[in-house]
Amino acid sequence: MGTMTFTKVATTADFLFDRMEGFQVSGKDFLVARVGGRFSALGNICTHQGCRLSGGKIREGRIRCPCHGSAFDPATGTVLQGPAGKPLSLYHIKVENDQVWVDL
Ligand code: FES
Repeated sequence: MGTMTFTKVATTADFLFDRMEGFQVSGKDFLVARVGGRFSALGNICTHQGCRLSGGKIREGRIRCPCHGSAFDPATGTVLQGPAGKPLSLYHIKVENDQVWVDL
């Protein structure tokens, strides 16, 4: 089992509800989303044609790609609507003392 290496990437105050933001840290391109009060960290590159999802919006609890409208479940990275066919990678995340940490 690999060791988790959590890196602090943001504070909870940086996130309103149903917002996401992209980060590039340690060579990883990921986004942190806050949906319905729950934080998650996912790959930021759409699995359809590579658009950056953090440039899109969260609509009805789904991450919507700005390019062709694919929708992903923010909790799991699962595709909810194509044209994307593959899920996003999912990172471990933890929120402690108003700080957001991601396992990179
Ligand atoms: S690149 Fe995201 S839907 Fe096409």
